[in-house]
Amino acid sequence: MNPLWLSATIVIIMCLSAEAQLNSCNSNDSMVLKRFMEGMESAIDEWTSNSSDCCHWDGVTCDFAGKVIGLELSKKRLIGNLLDSISDLDQIRTLNLSRNLLKGTLPNSIFQLRYLQILDLSANEFSGSLPDSVDLPSIQVLDISDNNFEGPIAPGFCINSTGIRVLKLGVNYFNGEIPLEFEKCSSLEYLCLDANFVSGVIPEYLFRLPRLLHLSLQDNVMIGEIRNVNPSNLVYLDVSLNYISGNLPDFFDSFPNLTYFAAHSNSFNGGIPFSLLNSRSISSLILRNNSFSGSIDLNCSAMMNLVFLDLADNEFTGSIPGGLSSCQSLKAIDLGGNNLTGQIPESFKKFNSLCYLSLSMCNLNNLSGSLQILQHCPNLTTLVLSRSFDNEEMPSDANLEFKMLKTLVIPNCKLTGMIPIWLNGLTRLKILDLSWNELSGSIPPFLGNLQSLVYLDLSNNYLNGEIPKSLTHLPDLQVHDYSLELPLEFPIFMRRGMDGKVLRYSYGIRFPPTLDLSNNFLTGPICPEFGNLINLHVLNLNYNELSGNIPSNLANLTSIETLDLSHNDLSGEIPLSLVSLGMLSKFSVAYNNLTGIIPSGGQFSTFSVSSFEGNPGLCGEFVLSCVKKQESLHIPKFEEVEESITSLPVWTGFGIGFLFAVMLLLVLPRIRDTHDMDKFK
Ligand SMILES: *[C@@H]1O[C@H](CO)[C@@H](O)[C@H](O)[C@H]1NC(C)=O
Ligand SMILES: *[C@@H]1O[C@H](CO)[C@@H](O)[C@H](O)[C@H]1NC(C)=O
Ligand SMILES: *[C@@H]1O[C@H](CO)[C@@H](O)[C@H](O)[C@H]1NC(C)=O
Ligand SMILES: *[C@@H]1O[C@H](CO)[C@@H](O)[C@H](O)[C@H]1NC(C)=O
Ligand SMILES: *[C@@H]1O[C@H](CO)[C@@H](O)[C@H](O)[C@H]1NC(C)=O
Ligand SMILES: *[C@@H]1O[C@H](CO)[C@@H](O)[C@H](O)[C@H]1NC(C)=O
Ligand SMILES: *[C@@H]1O[C@H](CO)[C@@H](O)[C@H](O)[C@H]1NC(C)=O
Ligand SMILES: *[C@@H]1O[C@H](CO)[C@@H](O)[C@H](O)[C@H]1NC(C)=O
Ligand SMILES: *[C@@H]1O[C@H](CO)[C@@H](O)[C@H](O)[C@H]1NC(C)=O
Ligand SMILES: *[C@@H]1O[C@H](CO)[C@@H](O)[C@H](O)[C@H]1NC(C)=O
Ligand SMILES: *[C@@H]1O[C@H](CO)[C@@H](O)[C@H](O)[C@H]1NC(C)=O
Ligand SMILES: *[C@@H]1O[C@H](CO)[C@@H](O)[C@H](O)[C@H]1NC(C)=O
Repeated sequence: MNPLWLSATIVIIMCLSAEAQLNSCNSNDSMVLKRFMEGMESAIDEWTSNSSDCCHWDGVTCDFAGKVIGLELSKKRLIGNLLDSISDLDQIRTLNLSRNLLKGTLPNSIFQLRYLQILDLSANEFSGSLPDSVDLPSIQVLDISDNNFEGPIAPGFCINSTGIRVLKLGVNYFNGEIPLEFEKCSSLEYLCLDANFVSGVIPEYLFRLPRLLHLSLQDNVMIGEIRNVNPSNLVYLDVSLNYISGNLPDFFDSFPNLTYFAAHSNSFNGGIPFSLLNSRSISSLILRNNSFSGSIDLNCSAMMNLVFLDLADNEFTGSIPGGLSSCQSLKAIDLGGNNLTGQIPESFKKFNSLCYLSLSMCNLNNLSGSLQILQHCPNLTTLVLSRSFDNEEMPSDANLEFKMLKTLVIPNCKLTGMIPIWLNGLTRLKILDLSWNELSGSIPPFLGNLQSLVYLDLSNNYLNGEIPKSLTHLPDLQVHDYSLELPLEFPIFMRRGMDGKVLRYSYGIRFPPTLDLSNNFLTGPICPEFGNLINLHVLNLNYNELSGNIPSNLANLTSIETLDLSHNDLSGEIPLSLVSLGMLSKFSVAYNNLTGIIPSGGQFSTFSVSSFEGNPGLCGEFVLSCVKKQESLHIPKFEEVEESITSLPVWTGFGIGFLFAVMLLLVLPRIRDTHDMDKFK
């Protein structure tokens, strides 16, 4: 045949077959998909409006013969039942129904699709237990995480599904032990059972699976000790939030490729084993919230890849190891909540990689010397020293310099002295917390020059004088929708919350934009320019001696959620305009000398009498009725006082998702011991 003809014929054949593919949705498959859709309460628009050829439908993939080989229906918010019909699509290779909010039990036939390679049903509301028999011989990726499945983990996965690589069963209600049959998972690379009720001891054979790289078992009810003798390929191992006890075995030589090891919140005790202290591979080591003891003797000549080190909330003793500064990749350290003593070691002067240092609730001394040393760390952005020092003087050396510092948190240290002048040079500072100390003098106006400041907590000190007007010029408090995150985040933890939803636990602390000057001796007026701070979410000026009127400009604080002006000497009326503050959820002007009528409407209809009481001249429509003359006022007990001023900086309406700061308790412990009580006036 003439080559020209040949190529023309080929082109024609190709066109024909392309045409054939376009028009040839297998009629049986088409029926199945229609039945599938009929089982849904909500329709998929494209399926109803477009052609009858199901190969054209959104999320449907066909092969050349018009057989359906893939079904990907993520984020369609489908509600309804998966019919058994799906299993009649016997050629199907991909079934991705992730995040559809599908409800109901799964037909067993879903687990009988002979050609299925990818099955993703994650983030729906499927319930029921898995069938005993699983026949998915082609499956490679199976993700049914974040549903309501219960019962034991099906043992069959790896018997008929020898090629399975990824198995995600997390955030369900599976119970029982990891089945012995998992020993056959010779292709498995990724296994996640997080946030279930899996019990028993971690089976040693999991570590031996030849391809397994990622093993995550956090937030289950596993017990016993953890053992391994054979070499393991694991790169990622997370056994956090279980009930595993005993010593951590000296077995890290068997994990030559392990980079992430998390075992926080178990019952481990004893020291960190030698092989872990000398691990060349580990980059994240997270052992917080156990009972580990001894001293922290990391061998930094060996641990060249260590980046995150979290040993907080254990029983380590001794001084902060000076050798840490020679871990050349180490960026983030949290040693808080251990009984460490002494001061920051001199060697930290050369700690170039250090970005994040948290030493809350340690028994340190010499804050002045410690800051002298830490100022040499060129990359230090976050310094958290809550409750670490006791009864020292706030260092006042004007030459202290922290050019990179974004977060400085030194509350609850009973520091005396004044707010130091060296803060003036912290031009990148976003978060400053010096609360619950014994600082006196006035608030220096230069704080208003800190261009990036969005969180200032000077509450519970002995500060006096007027509130400097410069604070009303803070630029980042004057822009809307500015959200603050710490620059460096520790790895994120995931855990199911009490309500069954997934909570994300993160080290990244999110603070609402805040000005908290409460519980001091501040005098003078609240100047109207406070209304400029439209990004402010929390303004606490309670328990001071502020006088004058409440400026009506505060109605410009459109982001404000907490506004507490109680226990001052404010007079005049409550501005009517405050009713327009739609985000306001905590409001108090109690115990002032306000007069007139309490505005009604808006959020004001949700505030109770405790927001207004203690103002003899104040009355309203719903609370403190203007008709009835007020009787004796009641004096709050300390517990009530605490309640009204407690405003943890985790602020649920802020940011996206369920973000919880695990470290928060360490970072900003609002621990009100009896000795803090004498600050209440
Ligand atoms: C539809 O299914 C029937 C029975 O299984 C079969 O005989 C027929 O060939 C199928 N039709 C197509 C187009 O695959
Ligand atoms: C279905 O039709 C709509 C408009 O009629 C079009 O925008 C959409 O891309 C079509 N979907 C498919 C899968 O062809
Ligand atoms: C399923 O689809 C979602 C959303 O498009 C995607 O994030 C997910 O990775 C897919 N699952 C698989 C296994 O490909
Ligand atoms: C494997 O598949 C067969 C059907 O092909 C089924 O009878 C058997 O129960 C399956 N095995 C397991 C352990 O699920
Ligand atoms: C570690 O990883 C390397 C490749 O990154 C691989 O060649 C080696 O076999 C792994 N070691 C073990 C013990 O799995
Ligand atoms: C600490 O670990 C215990 C279990 O050992 C757990 O109940 C608790 O929630 C953990 N605390 C935090 C803050 O994670
Ligand atoms: C620390 O690690 C280096 C390099 O692996 C090794 O030569 C040295 O012996 C180790 N030191 C101790 C005390 O184990
Ligand atoms: C902390 O350690 C010091 C000495 O190292 C000891 O005197 C003190 O009792 C310890 N404190 C606690 C709470 O264990
Ligand atoms: C520390 O910061 C300097 C710049 O100041 C940068 O060049 C260097 O890479 C950083 N070091 C580390 C280890 O991150
Ligand atoms: C505090 O630390 C500095 C710097 O290391 C040191 O020079 C000084 O002697 C220390 N002071 C006390 C009282 O330990
Ligand atoms: C702030 O409030 C005052 C008085 O309520 C008003 O005159 C002014 O225009 C407001 N400023 C802004 C920027 O909204
Ligand atoms: C309250 O304000 C009135 C004037 O409005 C004043 O006469 C009175 O002395 C004030 N009371 C207190 C306790 O400051």
